[in-house]
Amino acid sequence: MSIDYTDGRESEAHLLEIIKAQSDLRSSTAIAVEQYDRWHVHYHLSPERGNLVRHLSFSGLHVLELGAGMGAVSRYLAEHAETLTVVEGTRERFDCLSQRLRDLDNWSGHVANIEDAQLDRKFDVICVIGVLEYAQMYMRPEADFDGDAFDWMLHCAARHLEPDGVFLIAIENALGIKYWAGAPEDHTWRMFDSVAGYDTAPGPKTFSRGALRARLQRAGLAHCREYYPFPDYKLPNCVVTPKMIEHDPRLAAELATGRSYEHHEIPTPRYYPPSLAMFQVADAGLLAEFANSFLFAAARSGRAGALERLCRREEQGEVAWYYNLLRTPETRTRTVFQRTGDGPNDLRIRKYGADEEAFGEREPVPCDGFTVRWRPLPDQPLLSGPKILHTLMRTAYYEKWDRFLEELHDFIGWSLDHWSTDGGALDGLAFDANVLNASIEPDGYGLFDLEWQLAPSMPRSWFIFRNVMSLCDRFDEELLIDNPRFHCPRDLYDTTCRHFESPPDLQADLRRECTFQNLVAPGHRERTPEDLARVMDKRFGERSYPDDPRMIRARQRQIDEMRVIWYATPVRIARRFTEWLDRSPRLTKACRMVLRPFRGRGGKP
Ligand SMILES: C[S@@+](CC[C@H](N)C(=O)[O-])C[C@H]1O[C@@H](n2cnc3c(N)ncnc32)[C@H](O)[C@@H]1O
Repeated sequence: MSIDYTDGRESEAHLLEIIKAQSDLRSSTAIAVEQYDRWHVHYHLSPERGNLVRHLSFSGLHVLELGAGMGAVSRYLAEHAETLTVVEGTRERFDCLSQRLRDLDNWSGHVANIEDAQLDRKFDVICVIGVLEYAQMYMRPEADFDGDAFDWMLHCAARHLEPDGVFLIAIENALGIKYWAGAPEDHTWRMFDSVAGYDTAPGPKTFSRGALRARLQRAGLAHCREYYPFPDYKLPNCVVTPKMIEHDPRLAAELATGRSYEHHEIPTPRYYPPSLAMFQVADAGLLAEFANSFLFAAARSGRAGALERLCRREEQGEVAWYYNLLRTPETRTRTVFQRTGDGPNDLRIRKYGADEEAFGEREPVPCDGFTVRWRPLPDQPLLSGPKILHTLMRTAYYEKWDRFLEELHDFIGWSLDHWSTDGGALDGLAFDANVLNASIEPDGYGLFDLEWQLAPSMPRSWFIFRNVMSLCDRFDEELLIDNPRFHCPRDLYDTTCRHFESPPDLQADLRRECTFQNLVAPGHRERTPEDLARVMDKRFGERSYPDDPRMIRARQRQIDEMRVIWYATPVRIARRFTEWLDRSPRLTKACRMVLRPFRGRGGKP
């Protein structure tokens, strides 16, 4: 029996049409990248879908995927596993999946409800990615089953598992940090829905970390390895392990906030900047509890079996993986964080080509009167100081705009000195040495990830421009709000150029940057200088949420006013008087005697 799940028939038909027309179907290919501003295209066709499981080793394993949808992860699985079997509940989605895997011959599939699936073998790995949450809608536990629909789905799935097989499940965290900040629940689009415990009516439901672990345990899957994909399991650009969180919580928070979650079609109110909160949560040792999604690999026993084979990289000390795939194939990277011991500095950060192909030197390519060359950077320095981006976020949040400019200008001033050449321009390595790739170290600034080199040299105004753009790109929207010192990125650029007596050259910078972006990430970034100019001119604080964060600022102002009144002189005198009375029992007694005639009978003594 099929089920009636749909993302909208039009979306499904649209995707089928795209996939049918596509000749390169590899999971590393960004199919229809020019349409990623549409959620369904981005979600189903982005090569980033595979990032969820890229750190696992499927080689030689027989994999079953339940609720495989339109094959976003299936394609990756089929490319890497010995065989793939899929079960998908709807014909339309299965047809799309079949098209996507049409050039592979190691897979087979069925349209069926998970509870009805009859399969003639058991599997080393069973994947359930974004499916458990729908159990109440499509599954009915048998009368004598001891558990609810979610337990039932896990039970039905686990029937197909080899005794030493691995159950791989990805799902949103009901207590994910984004939900506390006000993001609507991913399935119901209701703010605070999962945090408040959901309506009792049947519908999609997700779980906290502890609740999910307990369910897996009830299904006989007590041995669990946990992974946290960020910003979530749908379009992750990194995955971190508990070991990373334990040893390097701040670095884990940095990876976790490398990209903010955003659904293109649902407004995402935020009552505080989650990227700042993530650091606090990490410091408190709670990052796992508040991750936006989970990927759990659960097995019946901890003894060697598919779990060990699947998690081979972790056995070798790898603790986190960061991907940069939305670029030209030859510049895509995968950064691996590997523990070499238990000491604070025993972390190796190494970059590889994303597809394990040659990771060699590249030829310089022309870029608007310059040449730009991508450099492979295998080992990255381990920097212990705070990242300048995070420091600037904090300052912006507290609206200390003078200090914000001071911090930014300190860094830019240092960079202009550090990279300056005889001709007044900057060394070409300054190209990537911006606020995104810098930390504050005891003896100055530390830099990492300087992947691009410009020749013959870097214009000062372009350096300033790239810093401003990077900031605006990476700040949560409510951080850079309208303020008396600068109203939009262009203002910040002008102010900074003026500060360093460096002539602004915005038109040229827009053109150069645009050429560069089109070179690196063809198809899905702003393409024309006019597009970038619009970003530079966008006034801060203009975006309006359904519940505008300005309301919170207004509420804060009321609280501030109350505070002023509370500390106003007459109130303080009165408080001092009562404190003094409290300290002097004889006086208190005298006051009570004086007041007694005015009290009603039965009043408290
Ligand atoms: C959110 S989508 C996830 C699809 C895919 N795993 C992915 O990550 O792209 C959920 C999918 O699970 C399927 N599904 C949900 N419940 C099911 C059930 N009981 N039996 C079969 N398929 C089911 C739906 O048809 C849908 O394709």
